[in-house]
Amino acid sequence: MSTSIQVLGEERPFFHLRTATTSVVLRVGPFGHLEQLWWGAPLGGEGEGWPSADELAALWHPVSEDFAQTTHYSTTSDSSFALAKTPLAWATLGKGDPRVPGLRVREHQVLDATYVRHEVRPGLVPAPGLPRLGSEERSETLVVTLADRVAGLEVDLFWTTFPLSGVLTRRTVVRNTGAAALTLEHVASLVLDLAEPDVDVLTLDGHWLSEAHGTRRPVGLQQVVNSTTLGTSSDRHNPGFLLPARGASETHGECWGVNLAYSGSHWSSIQGDSGGMVRVVAGLNPDGFAWSLAPGEQFCAPEAVLAHSSSGLNGVSASFHRFVDDCVVPAHWRRRERPVVLNNWEGTYFDFDADVLVQMAERAAELGVETFVLDDGWFGERHDDQRALGDWHVNTDKLPGGLGALAERIAEHGLAFGLWVEPEAISPNSDLFRAHPDWAITTPGRTPSQGRHELLLDLTRPDVRDHLVETLGSLFDSAPISFVKWDFNRAISDADEAGFHHRYVLGLYDVLGRVFGPRPEILLENCSSGGSRFDLGMLTFGPQVWASDCTDPAERLAIQHGLSLLYPPSTISAHASDSPNHQTDRVFDLAFRCDVALPYVFGIELDPRAMSEQDTRLLTERIAWYREHRAVLQFGASRRTDHPANLPQLARVGDEHAIAFAYATYVRPRQPSPRLVIPLGGQRVGLSWPFAAREDETLPGAAARAGILRSGRQHDTSAEVVHGRRLREQ
Ligand code: GLA
Repeated sequence: MSTSIQVLGEERPFFHLRTATTSVVLRVGPFGHLEQLWWGAPLGGEGEGWPSADELAALWHPVSEDFAQTTHYSTTSDSSFALAKTPLAWATLGKGDPRVPGLRVREHQVLDATYVRHEVRPGLVPAPGLPRLGSEERSETLVVTLADRVAGLEVDLFWTTFPLSGVLTRRTVVRNTGAAALTLEHVASLVLDLAEPDVDVLTLDGHWLSEAHGTRRPVGLQQVVNSTTLGTSSDRHNPGFLLPARGASETHGECWGVNLAYSGSHWSSIQGDSGGMVRVVAGLNPDGFAWSLAPGEQFCAPEAVLAHSSSGLNGVSASFHRFVDDCVVPAHWRRRERPVVLNNWEGTYFDFDADVLVQMAERAAELGVETFVLDDGWFGERHDDQRALGDWHVNTDKLPGGLGALAERIAEHGLAFGLWVEPEAISPNSDLFRAHPDWAITTPGRTPSQGRHELLLDLTRPDVRDHLVETLGSLFDSAPISFVKWDFNRAISDADEAGFHHRYVLGLYDVLGRVFGPRPEILLENCSSGGSRFDLGMLTFGPQVWASDCTDPAERLAIQHGLSLLYPPSTISAHASDSPNHQTDRVFDLAFRCDVALPYVFGIELDPRAMSEQDTRLLTERIAWYREHRAVLQFGASRRTDHPANLPQLARVGDEHAIAFAYATYVRPRQPSPRLVIPLGGQRVGLSWPFAAREDETLPGAAARAGILRSGRQHDTSAEVVHGRRLREQ
């Protein structure tokens, strides 16, 4: 199979895009509309060739009879054709389709874009100013151009194939081809009709300390909107979502998934329809959006990312994971193992000096930690969270000799050095604000509202961006800094201009590209009060995200489970912290805290000087084990099982080894013993409650060669880690 896109027919062509796990079939309809004939399992395949035009045509079924109020597109040449009954890959209002449109233009309440041309290009075609994805071998891009001559605009619909991971991406460009200015009020990245009425919607919802909890409900005939207006991809609603067929589970059934390579205010609509289809529209949030297009100008919407699987939610996750590991994260970090860090935030908060940090680094080195990350409080007069953001020069009272001297002392213990910054923020009490009060986002006549005592810099201004690029560049070059934690602790407010949120995000991408592009070896960990910007856009600049400010392991199980639906373990930064937990005050033994964080990018977030001897021993052993197996833990295939909510189980499967984790968060008294079934490279290991004291037992059946590495138990929580050499499939 040499190509991944086939075009059949000339006047009304079919377009068949095929990857390892899915096919999308589009067709130019009788009046030039782009129809969505199929999104599902791959059609044809290796050895079978491509289906013929007749076979593709057979995919189209009129999905319903006319309703009383159906508008027929034409009464002269084909009286039965109605947009309302047609599965479409692009849609607008005004010609009889009552469903959610992909485009709104202030000057035209009727829009109707029809086919004019197409082309297939090798590789992917990057959208200027937006996150840059990498391509795969045999990636190709189909560009279909539709035109609305009356409104004076053209729409380019880009589809790119990622044949190996199975993913497809889709984006939209709108061009003003007329003589008058146009005002875009809504431009979707993706519009498609799924000819599958019985789907659920699974979104990742939450809030600070409790991000990405999966919420699943049927679509039915409703419209489900997954969106945010905060200016970030947000902890409220992650931009990605899944559409599992009714009854599909982690391991079985048909499932579709959509995500956006975008970090700002987003909006997706999933709309059931009496015509037996589900319309999916995804992209920028139209609330607060308007974009003026002069004649000849164009607007690029960000990339939407699609995956499909016939083997459950795990299958869709597998496509997304491979895509992120191979095509999304910066080239330097693709499949590159991530270090074990100690972050000093929960260990010291603002209360530290160089000696304290060096002592912590010394203990961390004994534990096996590889990178010391200095969090908030190292700069200007930053003694609490009320001041000094913007004053990015080291406080030499705390750190005499500066960052270089500190990094050197830390390096003497064998650790690399990392640094926290929150560059987009500006404290009203800062030298930067006193020098440039006009750099903050404000609306004339209104006092700007603060979040965490902060305002935000106006990144739509080139001078502000230049300042950040210069300041951060020289800061990161001033010491051997191999890791940067980039924080963003408030939402955008007080921006009066329509379209500001999008311009802000474009400004952010510009700054990130200019700071980190020339410094690819710096590991950028993105953070936004934890997981407020966990999205594919940010992942193109830095390969991992601090998933949540909540380090309570029971809460983290839910957060990490939700994130794992869309994002691979290599992107999810997870730390074992102190007990009682600083956010929830709950008590967990160190084994459980570690075992919850180990299947991701593991680190610690505590003061290692304050640990008992027993905990020191346990943590040293866990870190050594992690370092030995992190290739599988970070990059192995990720599996989740269908399990009761209080007994989550997951596995990482590598070429040679598989590691399974089972957690019990609460087991109801006098209930039948729950049975755990952990998928290990095609084998199943059955474990029964209670897990504790199984240390020396041999596991039953085919997995007899797998050994329980350890177990721990405290209160009603317990974790089991099973590590086995992969057994050949029988
Ligand atoms: C945010 C981050 C934390 C920490 C603090 C420092 O809350 O999410 O991890 O860095 O800021 O102020």
